[in-house]
Amino acid sequence: PESLRALHAMLNEANATLTRGIYDPATAEAAKLYVHSGYRAYEVQCRLFNKKIRREMQMYPDRIPTELAAIASVNSRSALPGQSEHQLGTAVDLVSMIPGIGYEPEPQMDRTMGFAWLRANAFRYGFAMSYPKGDVDERTPNPRTRYVYEPWHWRYVGIAHATAFDMCAKRGVTLQEYLRAIKANPLVSCR
Ligand code: DAL
Ligand code: ZN
Repeated sequence: PESLRALHAMLNEANATLTRGIYDPATAEAAKLYVHSGYRAYEVQCRLFNKKIRREMQMYPDRIPTELAAIASVNSRSALPGQSEHQLGTAVDLVSMIPGIGYEPEPQMDRTMGFAWLRANAFRYGFAMSYPKGDVDERTPNPRTRYVYEPWHWRYVGIAHATAFDMCAKRGVTLQEYLRAIKANPLVSCR
């Protein structure tokens, strides 16, 4: 599919650029972007979500005493089954080596060269970052997306929309807001 071709092409260019001039193989590997997670079937999202619910209740029995409280808490990081962009098959989690953490989808990913490359170039391949940081901090859900900051999560929307959205994103508009706006009025633009 188109999105997979775009992902391959994007990672090829990104990783060629990110490793240029690095001769130590381990250092070069650490500079690259890798796919952490791609398509998820409904059942997979279900399993993932339920695992997080159980873990949340075990870890914070005082703060999170009920399943309902756990769902509310986990839902700021993980979409309910049926609501994840990963189920579309067009969203991908991209990771790069975070010093002291590793290849994990963590907010510190935004301090890697890989992220800097994505922020500057992903739109040229049709990818947009779905879950920007809110005003408070990295761990507080952004009220405009209802999710925490996910610098690793990129969704394929095609080059035209990713390019138009890039301009909107610089003004703080989220991808969901952009998609809703163009659905209501296909001529909408942020210029
Ligand atoms: N982590 C994102 C929100 C998802 O589960 O789709
Ligand atoms: Zn994701």
